[in-house]
Amino acid sequence: MHSLLILNGPNLNLLGTRQPEVYGSGTLDMLEDSCAKHAQKSGFQVQCLQSNHEGALIDAIHGARGRHGGIVLNAGAFTHTSIALMDAIYSVEIPTVEVHLSNIHARESFRHQSYIARAAIGQICGFGRQGYLMAIDALVQKLTQPSDVT
Ligand code: DQA
Repeated sequence: MHSLLILNGPNLNLLGTRQPEVYGSGTLDMLEDSCAKHAQKSGFQVQCLQSNHEGALIDAIHGARGRHGGIVLNAGAFTHTSIALMDAIYSVEIPTVEVHLSNIHARESFRHQSYIARAAIGQICGFGRQGYLMAIDALVQKLTQPSDVT
């Protein structure tokens, strides 16, 4: 299935104006556009969704079944609190890469904990927008050459 879900959580709709010194000056539209263009180079299409609501993110993960081969997820602050999102990822069994624009491990201690990390195949953080492109590459690799990934 050559399709990926790019899922962004709370407050990420404000990218560009929200703490640009932490999250950069690019907007969510720009981020989603670069994801689509990058995935296209590998013959993949993307569906991009953003929600500030935990339940909507869970519904989007459930809805990815049969539609998307992988998920790139930046769950925002739900990363640090949501057992329900973790369970959703376990439930659908779709390879999911956790992404954060900032390096959550170099920030406040409450950001060091990630429930998503337990269910994700990997975590990329601290590389800004580039991290999403790295996550796409990891999923493309996993979905097209599964034996080359441990
Ligand atoms: C974030 C990091 C989270 O701790 C924070 O709550 C966010 C953004 C990031 O992309 O760096 O909303 O996920």
